[in-house]
Amino acid sequence: MDKHAIAFPALTLAAALAAGGALAAPPDWSKVPAKKFTVFYPGVSPVEWIMNGVEHSGAKGLRKGETCTSCHQEEADNLVIGQKMVSGEKIEPKPIKGKVAAFPVNVQAANDGTHLYLRFSWKQPPGGGPKMDADNQVKLAFMLAEDGIMAQDAKGKEVDMSKAGGCWATCHDDLRTMPNAKDDKKTKYIKTAGKFYDLVQWASKANKGSDGMVADKRVMDNGKALVEAKGENKGGEWSVVFTRKLSGGGEGDLALASGKTYNFGFAIHDDYTNGRFHHVSLGYTLGIDTKADLSANK
Ligand code: HEC
Repeated sequence: MDKHAIAFPALTLAAALAAGGALAAPPDWSKVPAKKFTVFYPGVSPVEWIMNGVEHSGAKGLRKGETCTSCHQEEADNLVIGQKMVSGEKIEPKPIKGKVAAFPVNVQAANDGTHLYLRFSWKQPPGGGPKMDADNQVKLAFMLAEDGIMAQDAKGKEVDMSKAGGCWATCHDDLRTMPNAKDDKKTKYIKTAGKFYDLVQWASKANKGSDGMVADKRVMDNGKALVEAKGENKGGEWSVVFTRKLSGGGEGDLALASGKTYNFGFAIHDDYTNGRFHHVSLGYTLGIDTKADLSANK
């Protein structure tokens, strides 16, 4: 037997492992169950609005430990959530004509002990609005966080918002593109020191991902966990697949452990939109080898 025939592949394997994640191979998605989630148009509903009991009666429930889904999941399932904002009836001074209130997104998750794989697929909703981000027809971002990122109401009462409310802890009334913005560079932030949201975004023009985080500000590319993000549009059906190292590795990379669950939310900037003009999910849980709203099993 030719020794080189064995030695060479072995070396390649070692080199690939050293390069980190080069061997990642997404699963056969046709065998991975899909979970249907809804993304909806949130209008101007920053966490300050969410926590204001006069404007949002849900604030009382949140203070008692309820989650967004405990009150809003049914509307989300029926795709009626978001209607008041998208039409401009409520908390949206600049509605975009023709935009849908909500649309369903299928999400699939898997892991191979080293990598987390996430696949999002959805039917392109109707468009034709202003091109705020002329480069990117679509951007898709997801965030992962541990419990304990807090939000305060007007009296200073605190709620665990990463647990209750998906991405809302990062959304404030003074962010760029919000009506109260004073600084057009101000991006997402949280108010709990020492905590962060792990943020991963795919953008359609470059067809690749950015691995970032949200702490006292948003940083788009300090992470090291993302291996690949690739998407496509086949006949009006978008799909985007993320491959991410479970172990994390960089700043703002949550290390994901088997048997644990993490808070999970995602957003789609459809039809060249930017800033607040996205469709967002409520807050859910992602479980690694364990039961959750979305489970990434081996
Ligand atoms: C205890 C139930 C409850 C909880 C928990 C709750 N909400 Fe609400 N939410 C409501 C109700 C009821 C309304 C209708 C208007 C009102 O009374 O404020 C509403 C209205 C809204 C609206 C405006 C749209 C509309 O149809 O009026 C948004 C956006 C919203 N909630 C988002 C959230 C988010 C995000 C969370 C979690 C961080 C959340 N809500 C938690 C009950 C709740």
